Amino acid sequence: MNEGKNETNGRTAEETVVSRTTLFVQHAIVNLCRLVVAVTFIVSGFVKAIDPLGTQYKIEDYAAAVGIMQPAGSLATLGLSVALSAVEFSLGVLLLFAIHRRVVSRITAVFMAIMTIITLWLWIAEPVKDCGCFGDAIHISNAQTLMKNIVLLASAVIVAWRPLQMVRFISRSNQWIVINYTVLFIVGVSIYCLYMLPLFDFRPYHIGADIKKGMEMPPGEKGPEFETTFIMEKDGERREFSLDNYPDSTWTFIDSKTVQVSEGYVPPIHDFSVVMQPDGVDVTEDLLANKDYTFLLVSPQLEKADDSNFGDIDRIYEYATGNGMNFIGLTASSDEAISRWRDITGAEYDFGITDGTTLKTMIRSNPGLFLLKEGRVIGKWSHNDLPDPASQEFKALIKNGIDNGNFDTAKKVVKVVIWFVIPLFLLTLADRLWAWSSIVRNTRKKNKLYKLLKKKKMRKKIVAGNWKMNLNLQEGVALAKELNEALTAEKPNCDVIICTPFIHLASVAQAIDQNVLALGAENCADKEKGAYTGEVSAEMVKSTGAQYVIIGHSERRSYYAETPEILKEKVLLALKNGLKVIFCIGESLEEREANKQNEVVKAELEGSVFNLSEEDFRKIIIAYEPIWAIGTGKTATSDQAEEIHAYIRSIIAEKYGKAVAEDTSILYGGSCKASNAPELFAKPDIDGGLIGGAALKAADFRGIIDAWK
Ligand code: 13P
Repeated sequence: MNEGKNETNGRTAEETVVSRTTLFVQHAIVNLCRLVVAVTFIVSGFVKAIDPLGTQYKIEDYAAAVGIMQPAGSLATLGLSVALSAVEFSLGVLLLFAIHRRVVSRITAVFMAIMTIITLWLWIAEPVKDCGCFGDAIHISNAQTLMKNIVLLASAVIVAWRPLQMVRFISRSNQWIVINYTVLFIVGVSIYCLYMLPLFDFRPYHIGADIKKGMEMPPGEKGPEFETTFIMEKDGERREFSLDNYPDSTWTFIDSKTVQVSEGYVPPIHDFSVVMQPDGVDVTEDLLANKDYTFLLVSPQLEKADDSNFGDIDRIYEYATGNGMNFIGLTASSDEAISRWRDITGAEYDFGITDGTTLKTMIRSNPGLFLLKEGRVIGKWSHNDLPDPASQEFKALIKNGIDNGNFDTAKKVVKVVIWFVIPLFLLTLADRLWAWSSIVRNTRKKNKLYKLLKKKKMRKKIVAGNWKMNLNLQEGVALAKELNEALTAEKPNCDVIICTPFIHLASVAQAIDQNVLALGAENCADKEKGAYTGEVSAEMVKSTGAQYVIIGHSERRSYYAETPEILKEKVLLALKNGLKVIFCIGESLEEREANKQNEVVKAELEGSVFNLSEEDFRKIIIAYEPIWAIGTGKTATSDQAEEIHAYIRSIIAEKYGKAVAEDTSILYGGSCKASNAPELFAKPDIDGGLIGGAALKAADFRGIIDAWK
């Protein structure tokens, strides 16, 4: 035995403290990264979702840059816009709540990897100036986007590397509520904003904005500078000239190119102008200086404009003309499109031409209505939500010349909080209270006095894995580490044991904390020591740090001819060396068909363990494993299993008394899986499982352990 080592897991106390500290630091880093990624995803998903058309325009910019030409405003790009924001927002929320931690963290890492590659391309090739990560809310340069994405990718990879260290805010049983609510909410927000207008308007034409001010150049600022080069030819010689050294007329002009030489300051509004049709008069200045109200019916593409609400538009037009106000249609479309619109809607108002991108920036509705006074934006409406000139609200707006309150940002923030944050907060609170009260209940149950009073059963709940002859050393150690980490991150409600091949024991003992995950062997010799080539004694097993040993497995009984006498010796030697024994019993198919199962299990107990003193018998865990169910996919039904478990307990009671029987853990084994474990474990005499095939993958095994929750 190693001096100074902890007997159970072979580590010194110092090593244990170091590994706990490492684990704590890992926890802190993983959770910090998870918060950074979650919050960024939630913000960027939300600002995209509130402006589906803006996100669609950005996607179309990208598509154009890579030469995938989608017709502008196509359904495919709009669908992609809604889906992208929904995925981003939902991933953020799921990460925040630590829901489906493994899969969500992996998807997030893959998502970030793709985004980082795209932004690397953006940075190198500059196909678009603004990546659009945060819609119009925050504009960052391509270099900044790349930096941001590298940080996010690194954080996402750290989270995906140790997903189970993310602290959960909500129990697994209630996760589905968060998932469905989040997806419904964010898709709902997108649809609402598509039908109405973006919930929050981050563009320079928001309500209250002064367009004239937005066009001003702050004193001392310089605009961007451009340089034009002229390619000229004379006598077969081609040369480049600038405006400064433009040659005489003996040179012939061939071509010219203009490049931007300095960024300069670009005012937020730099391309607002209105040229009336058909006379071509520029009315921009008059329009912005007009002290009366001007209604602008804005339609970037008149040929695609929704004409279903033309009645409401006409009503407002009549109201405007009747009250001495201006009403102008603004579009980037052709004269034919304007006359088609007039034909369809009977529109009598004049049209002015404005740049299409400007119009799309002004309002996310085609058509949308704008109300201006002295260049200030007084109101904005989607064609689906046009104001009623007769309403009190509208009259108040016209009277006061200020926002009527519908667009009050604070009110909208409150709406989002009421519709999303509060419901999820209340759900989390209820969930945590419920979890806390069940902890209190469990603690009370564990209290000895309580147990004495209630005479509750004291036996342990156990899930033990029997790896059999599977997994090489490296695979075995990796699985043990994975389980150890998962169980450390989230404590199970039962004892968990893994029984491994002999050669794994020493290495696995070093890799796990046996306070969390205990270790056992699958067998031991029936001899104490000596010339027994190939055998491994109980003492050797114990010296690896293992605490348990499986004895009497049906595979050993049948393939290696282990008789009740041999098993009796093994049990004695295991106990002598301080090992706890998982003793297996169970009938074959023929015996079950002959209804001899009770007889068989009784004989097996009598043959190998009923010779023990009461004190020693208390160190035995019984595993009932019907041979016909082992590795066959056939499970005993929970009623069948309960019946025979109750019988086994009754014969233990006959032999050692009721108290011992009540304290003995009896496990079920044979095709036990996460799907059937809850039903089996719900039976009063089934205290857990001895698991074969499903113990070979951490997730499967964890699923069975979680059946005790
Ligand atoms: P399976 O879970 O693969 O049926 O094996 C049961 C068993 O033999 C455990 O010892």
